[in-house]
This record gives sequence, structure tokens and C-alpha cells, in this order.
Amino acid sequence: MTLQSSYGLELRRNRTLPQLRDLLSSESLNAKKLIQPIFVSESLKEREEMQSLPGVYRDSKESVLAQIEFDLKSGVKHFLLFLVPGTKSNDSIPKSFYESAIGGIKQRFPEIFLWLDTCLCSLTTHGHCGLLGKKGEIDNASSVVRLSDIALCYAQSGADGISPSDMMDGRVASHRKILDQNGFAHVPVMSYSTKFKSNFYGPFREAAESAPGHGDRSSYQIDVRNREDSILSSIRDAQEGADLLMVKPGITSIDLIQPIRDKTGLPVGAYQVSGEYASLAMLAQNGFCKFEDGLLETWNVFSRAGASYLITYAARRGKEIFS
Ligand code: PBG
Repeated sequence: MTLQSSYGLELRRNRTLPQLRDLLSSESLNAKKLIQPIFVSESLKEREEMQSLPGVYRDSKESVLAQIEFDLKSGVKHFLLFLVPGTKSNDSIPKSFYESAIGGIKQRFPEIFLWLDTCLCSLTTHGHCGLLGKKGEIDNASSVVRLSDIALCYAQSGADGISPSDMMDGRVASHRKILDQNGFAHVPVMSYSTKFKSNFYGPFREAAESAPGHGDRSSYQIDVRNREDSILSSIRDAQEGADLLMVKPGITSIDLIQPIRDKTGLPVGAYQVSGEYASLAMLAQNGFCKFEDGLLETWNVFSRAGASYLITYAARRGKEIFS
């Protein structure tokens, strides 16, 4: 299918596939509105369970296929894939790993909607989400070029949707442009549009091998104390052509979902991040609550707050928990 990209607002992008229509319907949250994150690591021979995230695995290109087969049977249609290359590089993209991992999944399961997270933190030697300049500062311009090249490689390999999580300025516009110019005008951009610097990403960074080697992410992720920046950041991504917006971490951002919806008119989802899932798992492991009850409580809160969709490590248990 080809879409004209010259009209500005491409509303048909979110209408074309049944999986997207289910994800973005105005119903309250339900199992069809959940997205399951998955990790594929190039250096793994066998899958390993994440200690801090019970029920979440780091997979090899091969072992992830059995996981997706299982998840499909549980009713999951949307996956958010994080690719962790075996070799770090600040100069090049591990194209063949990306192509084979994505291609392998989509050839086997054409019916899933596969989102790909674009960021540099799993790839760079320093673990920052952008490239560094001569003085060690984030170089926004070259970062956006590299990120867009990765987005194109993902789309060419079979990604259904692209999800930039790096928080560089201009990445959404540049993703949209490179996709449109290369025949991928139908591929939606789900932007991590309001992403805070947070203490809740710890378990993820272990899974994605993406902790910054020095410094922190406060020059590009939003300061939780700044409400104006957090809303402006989503408005800006909407103006640059994002199809779906997101707040992250979920539970610390629920007050922003409705204002962002009101100001942009776009669907706004939430990412229940690794630290949120791990906190509930730890409460449950210590006998303080039932894991499923804790999850359902938070999901009901996201629904009440107006989240259109939810990214959660427990998506594969969505049907069971909502029933
Ligand atoms: C990559 C990225 C992060 C998460 C999603 N994409 C980590 C970070 O910004 O350090 C966090 C997800 C989670 O904690 O579950 N930039």
C-alpha cells in the first residue's frame, strides 16, 4: 500500500491494519491494547530469564520465535522489539544482525505487528542514546542521522512500526522523512514523546546492556519537575508527524496523558517500564500483594487516566488478568 505523504496529517496510517485499529480504539484498556516488549541479544546462545523481571527473557534470534508463538496463543498481537548487538560501535550499524533478527520474526509471523525501538544506547560503547562530539557532549545532528538510518534499516527488514526512544531533537521529523522517501510512508511512528529521566529503567538497562558508562541522561530526557517541557515535548513530536504518542514511565506520568491528548488530539499510550513491573514483582515475592492484582490495579489506573494503549512486560498475561 502506498500513502501520499504530502498532505501533512496522514490519518490513514493508523487505520490501515486491524491490529492498529484494535490498539487505538476508544474503548478502555483491554488485552488488544497491550504491547509486549521482547529482547533479542546477538551474543546469546540460549535464552535467559531476567532475575529482576520474572517472566521476561532475553532471547536469541532463534529462541524468540518460540516465545512469540506462545504469546500469539495468549492473544498478543503487538510486540516492541529491542535488539542488542553483540559488538558495540559508535561508527556503524550492525545491519546483518538487524535484518536477520527482524526478517526471521516477520517471515515466521506475518500476522503480528512488530514495533522496533530506535535508540543508540545498546549500540554505543558509552551507552548514551546519542553520539558524542569531540568534547564528550551529545551531538544532536549526527545522532539523528544515525537513528534515522537505523529506522530505515528496520523498515527494510520488515518492521511494521518505528518507535524512537532516544529523545534527540528532530528525530521524529527525520524518521518520517527517511521512511517516506524510501517507500515506507505507511509505517507509523510511535514516539516516546514524553520520556522522563527516571530511576525506574534499571532492570531494562541490564537487559539491553545500555547503562551509560559515564554521566546520566539528564541533557536529553525530561526533568520530572518540569510540566511545561513534558507537555511541549509531546506537542513537538506531534507537529513533526508522530502517529502515536507515549508517556514514560507510566505511573509517574498519568497526570500528563489527558493534557497531551487534549493538546494534540493524538492517541497517547503509557509505558509501564521495567522498574514498575519489578516493583510489583518484588512486593508479590515478599508476600505483600498478588502480582496479578497489583498489575490489574495499575492497568485500571492507566485506563482511568485515558491511556489509549499500554506497553507492559505482562502483556502476555493480559487476557488472563483482564478476565
Ligand atoms: C532506550 C530505552 C530505555 C527504555 C526504553 N527504551 C532505557 C533508557 O532510556 O535508559 C526503558 C524501558 C524500561 O525501563 O522498561 N533509550
